[in-house]
Amino acid sequence: MHVLIVFCHPEADSFNGVLRDVAVRTLRKQGHGVEVADLHAEGFDPVERGCHYPQRKNPDWFSGMDEQRHASTIGSLPDDVAREIERLERADLVVFQFPLWWHSQPAMLKGWFDRVFVNGALYTSTMRYDRGYFRGKRAICSLTTGAPEAAFRENGRGGNIDTMLWPTQYSLYYMGFTILQPFIAHGVQGLSDFVRVEESRFGDHLEGHKLAWSQRLENLAMAETVCFPGWKDWDEQGHAAAPAGNETVLTRA
Ligand SMILES: Cc1cc2nc3c(=O)[nH]c(=O)nc-3n(C[C@H](O)[C@H](O)[C@H](O)COP(=O)(O)O)c2cc1C
Repeated sequence: MHVLIVFCHPEADSFNGVLRDVAVRTLRKQGHGVEVADLHAEGFDPVERGCHYPQRKNPDWFSGMDEQRHASTIGSLPDDVAREIERLERADLVVFQFPLWWHSQPAMLKGWFDRVFVNGALYTSTMRYDRGYFRGKRAICSLTTGAPEAAFRENGRGGNIDTMLWPTQYSLYYMGFTILQPFIAHGVQGLSDFVRVEESRFGDHLEGHKLAWSQRLENLAMAETVCFPGWKDWDEQGHAAAPAGNETVLTRA
């Protein structure tokens, strides 16, 4: 299997960086090929805008969807976007490694979605969801949170993590990926603390996350998926024709 790790953190030596390294080590040990897309280190530009398209379909008025479709048709996608798509094409599994920022994925990663998931080439009105371009490939979000695990339980102050991850995971499903249950390392306050208190209980807490992540990666064959509705569930307006059963809703079973 070939794995792409999309790493989104401005600090390479952060705890997210530690989890990235755990993934690289664990997956390589199992004989998998691993590639890392380090969005910050590579200077990925996450802002979709007209300057990315020198051969504009409409030079007077910018429409992201139109220019993406046009650029993919005439073979002039921006170099960085083309590189990311090639990486995705090579991958059987894509790991997204990021910290929870403002109850969501960081803006850098959101912008990566905005630019890399190209209209026309990678999705159309008929090529999406369970008929999406990347069907057959799997994706998993591995994230860290500042707040502790208890804060994300029902009515907790951290909020509902399934709801927070919904836009990220549903967008990946829209692109055709099968979504594995996320890996969440709660209560991570930063590696500087980790170094300072390496021998303390907080150090043990972070070591526990590292171990849990490597064990999760070692057992990918048995990984549970997040289920979403598919084309068979919707009527012509895109509404679920019948109440969704257990198998068609977001679950954390
Ligand atoms: C801009 C920003 C927003 C954040 N928002 C949240 C949040 O909504 N919920 C949360 O639990 N932690 C939040 N945090 C804390 C980070 O999730 C935490 O610092 C990170 O997961 C620690 O991993 P790291 O050491 O690799 O950065 C936020 C941190 C930053 C910098």
